Amino acid sequence: YQLIAVVPAAGIGSRMQADKPKQYLEIQGKTILAHTLGVLFAYPAISEIIVAVAPNDPYLPQLKFDNAEKIRFVHGGATRAESVLNGLHHINAKQRCRVLVHDAARPCLTHQDLDRLLQIDDDNGAILAIPATDTIKRADAAQQIHHTEDRAGLWLAQTPQYFRADLLQNALEQALAQGLAVTDEASAMEFAGFRPHLVPGRSDNLKITRPEDLALAEFYLNRKNT
Ligand code: CTP
Ligand code: MG
Repeated sequence: YQLIAVVPAAGIGSRMQADKPKQYLEIQGKTILAHTLGVLFAYPAISEIIVAVAPNDPYLPQLKFDNAEKIRFVHGGATRAESVLNGLHHINAKQRCRVLVHDAARPCLTHQDLDRLLQIDDDNGAILAIPATDTIKRADAAQQIHHTEDRAGLWLAQTPQYFRADLLQNALEQALAQGLAVTDEASAMEFAGFRPHLVPGRSDNLKITRPEDLALAEFYLNRKNT
């Protein structure tokens, strides 16, 4: 089968509070998006990368990417799920394709992470995730602790998330049609009756979300390049 990466990059980065969407902020003189795409194109098994960006995005045309022939830019949507679904719509011969959906905002992904994830060969698919290490509190309406969740068996979902392209497209279409809250691809697959595998990831594959995440991502990217 063909392995295609779909990269949702159409968000506005509201929690980052920067003057532009966070995927266009620079680390070591290179945008976060370019770092992320660099990790993916350097992975030989990936034949194509489809990037979903905001329509009329003013930042993208100013950028140049290495290996641009492997990348296709398509329009994203109002939610992450719609951005991913639109990316999937641009894949031909879906029954013979597997997709790796990976956040533009996770530039510190390593090839070892990908190697581990791709070992799962199963229609349920698989995601990288890490067992929760902090104690998890459920809040009440007054933002006081209602109770403490049992941490055992709780995992934090990361990306990439790895599925058969046809199954994922059906699952996302169904979930969106039913108005379900789809915050990652696995949740759509779960609604469709699949049981995706949890593959242990690493905490350095962080999603850059808040301003303080930038320094940490820079540290990890530096470490990788030395
Ligand atoms: N994303 C997308 N389309 C959307 C919303 C999000 O492609 N309509 C992408 C983001 O660009 C990001 C990834 O999904 O690469 C993960 O989302 P998140 O970290 O929440 O990014 P934002 O939605 O941009 O940030 P925020 O929620 O803080 O506004
Ligand atoms: Mg968001």
